Amino acid sequence: MNHSRIPRHIVIIMDGNGRWAKKRFLPRYAGHKAGVETVRRVLNFCAEQGVEILTLFAFSSENWRRPQKEVSLLMDLFVTALQREVNNLNKNNVRLHIIGAREAFPDNLQKLIVEAEKLTENNAGLTLVIAANYGGHWDILEAAKQLAQKVEQGVLKSKDINESLFAEQLCLADLPKPDLFIRTGGEKRISNFLLWQLAYAEMYFTDTLWPDFDKATFIEALKSFASRQRRFGRTGDQVEEEENA
Ligand code: IPE
Ligand code: IPE
Ligand code: MG
Repeated sequence: MNHSRIPRHIVIIMDGNGRWAKKRFLPRYAGHKAGVETVRRVLNFCAEQGVEILTLFAFSSENWRRPQKEVSLLMDLFVTALQREVNNLNKNNVRLHIIGAREAFPDNLQKLIVEAEKLTENNAGLTLVIAANYGGHWDILEAAKQLAQKVEQGVLKSKDINESLFAEQLCLADLPKPDLFIRTGGEKRISNFLLWQLAYAEMYFTDTLWPDFDKATFIEALKSFASRQRRFGRTGDQVEEEENA
């Protein structure tokens, strides 16, 4: 595949674990467990194709509304996956970063997150971002609060707030913008994921349930991305002219 057409930053809503399990008469938890295996596979696909950043939606601000038992199983799974995978990630030169309101997590999980980020912070390979207790509304509100605080402290004037200053306060500010958004599981919605950051991401929806997401589906998404013309408000002719210049 033409390298210039490979997305630098892919974000994925990993959906469909529950339905995958239900189809097999298994508890929903089995679907989440199978979903962790998919994460491992997808990391390899990304590395093979030269994708630089992979951001995965693992738990939304709204997922606390699920039955308490499912929530605590998900927390346990997060802990086990971190414990089990972090050395491997480190060996593979992956830099791990967690976004979301982590203060809501159990203490042991918060500690593991800090340790995993610290261990991998200087790795120069793929950047893996896990969004956990993340919500786009939360992200934007936090940014607004930080700017309001600076105004209160007198270090910023409200008239100086502009798009780039606002964006700097948001999650993923230090990374290139998402190029390709993938949602598995058939739903066609953003579910409060990266509301600001997805402004110009290319959207790709597949009915494939997350535990079934395989290389073929991944390549389909990349092909679809490669075939699109990203105009960012300009005309197609303008974009072509620039590409030929
Ligand atoms: C996504 O799969 C994983 C999380 C939200 C944690 P779901 O659990 O939402 O699976 P479905 O949508 O019920 O099939
Ligand atoms: C979005 O999936 C959140 C994650 C994948 C972590 P949901 O399954 O929670 O989304 P809705 O509720 O169907 O919109
Ligand atoms: Mg779902």
